[in-house]
Amino acid sequence: MLSRKEFLRLTGLIAAAAAIRNSAGSSHKRRRGPVVISTWDFGLAANAAAWNILKNNGYALDAVEAGVAVPEGDPLINSVGLGGFPDRDGRVTLDACIMDENFNCGSVACLEHIVHPAAVARRVMEKTPHVMLAGEGALRFALEQGFKNENLLTPEAETAWKEWLKKAEYDPQPNWEINHDTIGMLALDMQKRLAGVCTTSGMAWKMHGRIGDSPIIGAGLYVDGEIGAATCTGLGEEMIRMAASHSVVEAMRSGKSPQAACEAVIKRYYKRRGNKAHGKQVCLLAMDNEGNVGAFSLMPRFVYAITSNGVHEVREAGYLLEK
Ligand code: GLY
Repeated sequence: MLSRKEFLRLTGLIAAAAAIRNSAGSSHKRRRGPVVISTWDFGLAANAAAWNILKNNGYALDAVEAGVAVPEGDPLINSVGLGGFPDRDGRVTLDACIMDENFNCGSVACLEHIVHPAAVARRVMEKTPHVMLAGEGALRFALEQGFKNENLLTPEAETAWKEWLKKAEYDPQPNWEINHDTIGMLALDMQKRLAGVCTTSGMAWKMHGRIGDSPIIGAGLYVDGEIGAATCTGLGEEMIRMAASHSVVEAMRSGKSPQAACEAVIKRYYKRRGNKAHGKQVCLLAMDNEGNVGAFSLMPRFVYAITSNGVHEVREAGYLLEK
């Protein structure tokens, strides 16, 4: 994993070279070689870690796990792993899931004290006959697997929580307005194997026990190695309602490009939810099994990081509503 210093240097270098542009119209080109995409611009450093594996003919599943370990371990990122904002009781609870090209998947929900929930999700997938472990049971399993019990509440996150406590208004929101939230990552390796991962600390100041879309296979993440993969960020409850990632993959199965699939799912969601969708952000990111990508959100300002042919970029997704 990158050290904090390497992370900052890399982020600076990449940001200097990054081209930010609207992806509409350029998303359905056939690609060669491995590709990795991830939500938000903090995905650049995550992609770089994943790319180190992909460029050496590594496995997509290893790449996505290593990629998201970067923001999970970064105490300055308040929406994933260490340093994530806590729930309203001051407890940092993490959700994550992982899926390979053959429907193997694992998930943890409401996991405390473990910096890398995506790695624990992979152990659930590989070491148990189950898909999902939650809460105390997930923690016990992680410790049995050798993960370290750590305090995830950083002084900065604790200060922000205490500030919130002064009014304690219950209006939990995802962090999209500060340009990051959940990290979802999808990768295609040199052997054309697809994999995905999704990991988050969820909404700041949520009720203890609240679980979003990120650990739910079909909502926060879905991978079908014969078709494509999708992941999400934004308000988890909305992604669960529309089985968002599964819906995108099924739209690709019916012949849509990743871009058209993301747009179709967001449009259907808005048609069904109408006014209830206003003010809520939902963001979809997809890749087909040839490495073509698509992204679309309900509202503006969703950006994603893409790495292909060793080139790292941040792109702005298209969106449906101005506000
Ligand atoms: N998308 C993250 C959450 O709602 O928990």
